[in-house]
Amino acid sequence: MTVHFIGAGPGAPDLLTLRGRDLIAACPVCLYAGSLVPEGVLAHCPPGARIVNTAPLSLDEIVAEIAAAHAEGKDVARLHSGDLSIWSAMGEQLRRLRALGIAYSVTPGVPSFSAAAAALETELTLPGLAQTVVLTRTPGRASAMPEGEKLAAFAATGAVLAIHLSIHLLGDVIAELTSHYGADCPVAIVWRASWPDQRIVRTTLGSLDAAVGTEMERTALILVGRTLGAAEFDESRLYAADYDRRYRPVGTEPRFPEAT
Ligand SMILES: C[S@@+](CC[C@H](N)C(=O)[O-])C[C@H]1O[C@@H](n2cnc3c(N)ncnc32)[C@H](O)[C@@H]1O
Repeated sequence: MTVHFIGAGPGAPDLLTLRGRDLIAACPVCLYAGSLVPEGVLAHCPPGARIVNTAPLSLDEIVAEIAAAHAEGKDVARLHSGDLSIWSAMGEQLRRLRALGIAYSVTPGVPSFSAAAAALETELTLPGLAQTVVLTRTPGRASAMPEGEKLAAFAATGAVLAIHLSIHLLGDVIAELTSHYGADCPVAIVWRASWPDQRIVRTTLGSLDAAVGTEMERTALILVGRTLGAAEFDESRLYAADYDRRYRPVGTEPRFPEAT
């Protein structure tokens, strides 16, 4: 018996890996975080599967569901939104399963920051403008931020920020970032990226407060940085005609020996 943790993606049911889909289809029990995992993903569950929304459950109750499946020798598909490596609460479940001696596997998913960048049809790292993306959040009721992980500290680097779980704290975000990026710095809010009702607001730090209505609550990502909507940036050297590389040697004495 194995508990398969599966990243269920940002919302669109077809933004799920083939491995994730096949594991869901093979598991007679499915536990899903109903606050964000789309119902459409559950269509992959086999007929007769026990499907449990864990949104109203405590950690003890979730582990009890897993232990019951374990006692019956039934594999479990455990679904969390986006990818499991960020803000999934997977870590505490894995620790419980290790203590109980229950086997598990982890299958990645499409994170919401990727879905948001795709919705914006943008590359977040552009030569000469930004080469780092910081995935972060502001403090919440469930999680304090460690000392040092301040928005302003990340902003001081000039990196692109993908700020999660913070759409209700726009005022704080603007106050912390404006002195570093400037009021004219581009900002994009992507609400429910990849869902049928997805919405996008493109604005600047200086106009952000006025541009976002109260209807865009909860499932939204705030992207801040000079690469958003940029038209003026350097070309990457990767495709430059004179750039000598392993798969496209240039000149009579190429830098890399011929691939064998
Ligand atoms: C608990 S975190 C889960 C993050 C998830 N594990 C991931 O890989 O993106 C929830 C936050 O992720 C962001 N988020 C999740 N899905 C989203 C989506 N479809 N569109 C925009 N933001 C999303 C929002 O900032 C939301 O408050």
